[in-house]
Amino acid sequence: MSGYEARFRVWRGDVGGGGLEDFRVEVNEGEVVLDIIHRLQATQAPDLAVRWNCKAGKCGSCSAEINGRPRLMCMTRMSVFERTETITVTPLRAFPVVRDLVTDVGFNYQKAREVPAFVPPAGVGAGEYRMTQEDVDRSQEFRKCIECFLCQDTCHVVRDHEENKTAFAGPRFLMRVAELDMHPLDAAEESGLDRKRTAQDEHGLGYCNITKCCTEVCPEGIHITDNALIPLKERAVDRKYDPLVWLGNRIRRR
Ligand code: SF4
Ligand code: F3S
Ligand code: FES
Repeated sequence: MSGYEARFRVWRGDVGGGGLEDFRVEVNEGEVVLDIIHRLQATQAPDLAVRWNCKAGKCGSCSAEINGRPRLMCMTRMSVFERTETITVTPLRAFPVVRDLVTDVGFNYQKAREVPAFVPPAGVGAGEYRMTQEDVDRSQEFRKCIECFLCQDTCHVVRDHEENKTAFAGPRFLMRVAELDMHPLDAAEESGLDRKRTAQDEHGLGYCNITKCCTEVCPEGIHITDNALIPLKERAVDRKYDPLVWLGNRIRRR
């Protein structure tokens, strides 16, 4: 592919407001959207704010919306677009803008803090943990998360409803609850922490209606819905309607 000139439309502004600005910019073979944003900074808009770090799809910093779809700018090849197409780059819609393409993702850090950490099992020392390969594989899939927050941005529960943010942890952190709840060595329950109940009552699991949009945008290809959210829902429901648990709760309430 030889070089050509692309049409770019980039959102510029800050918390006080802003709008889309048009550019014509050179594109060369093998480039990604982040390269073009950097070229804009170097040649036409030196004050254009953008967050990035690794340029390898691993730091999760360069998240933005490209033609309305949440994506990593460094992993979006220019070759996926028609040369005549106008490419629109806007900041993540679910989070407050700081400036231009940079948003304040503090909501996610808050939600991370609300999930209690792994509780080590009593009497099992460091180096003595044993798990089946199946359990290891499950945790490893969830641990591929690079915290780009594209799933958090795309989930309609908060994307279209700012008011749900207090009650809903979002797919990334419900996945964390699921990981811990399914972890064979997590001793939360023995210490009085019921992760299934908190998933429902504190992290808003019930808000998720399994649209799977989170899974579709995950750059790590994590099966968030099928492997984390649906199993967590099943476990929470099993717990709620388990006759022994029901009886235990009745007795405790007396
Ligand atoms: Fe990003 Fe996927 Fe992690 Fe969500 S689960 S924050 S989309 S890597
Ligand atoms: Fe939202 Fe994913 Fe559920 S997009 S509704 S958390 S399946
Ligand atoms: Fe690190 Fe894009 S710059 S994921």
